[in-house]
Amino acid sequence: MRDDVDFVFHARHREETRTRGNIAAKLAQIEDHWSPRLLARVNDTDVRIAKIKGEFVWHHHEAEDEFFFVLKGRLLMQFRDREEWVEAGEYILVPRGVEHRPVAPEETHIMLIEPASTVNTGNVRNARTVEVVEAI
Ligand code: NI
Repeated sequence: MRDDVDFVFHARHREETRTRGNIAAKLAQIEDHWSPRLLARVNDTDVRIAKIKGEFVWHHHEAEDEFFFVLKGRLLMQFRDREEWVEAGEYILVPRGVEHRPVAPEETHIMLIEPASTVNTGNVRNARTVEVVEAI
């Protein structure tokens, strides 16, 4: 039997966290680069999408692992000791504490799965830092 109070709470929660959507349509709304948007929060983990182009900044995340999934284009993930090409349909996990720099020679679309506390520029604060990730 359904508890009405519980039902209302969960209905509201679903609305706020947008439990379904179309990723291509949401990407079409994004015009800037390197500015992740929140698709959904799953427990304490964010699912984010972004368009990227050019070189980002070298940084690391003290406490967060970052999962990058390439939706379109290709991503070059640079580490201090190597670099890895990540093609559309592929993913790469960057462990916490590991310095990295994402680079995209052409416009590339990515999905990020990372703790909600993750700041895009990690330990660095500069013009590309997004303190509050907006939902889309
Ligand atoms: Ni990072």
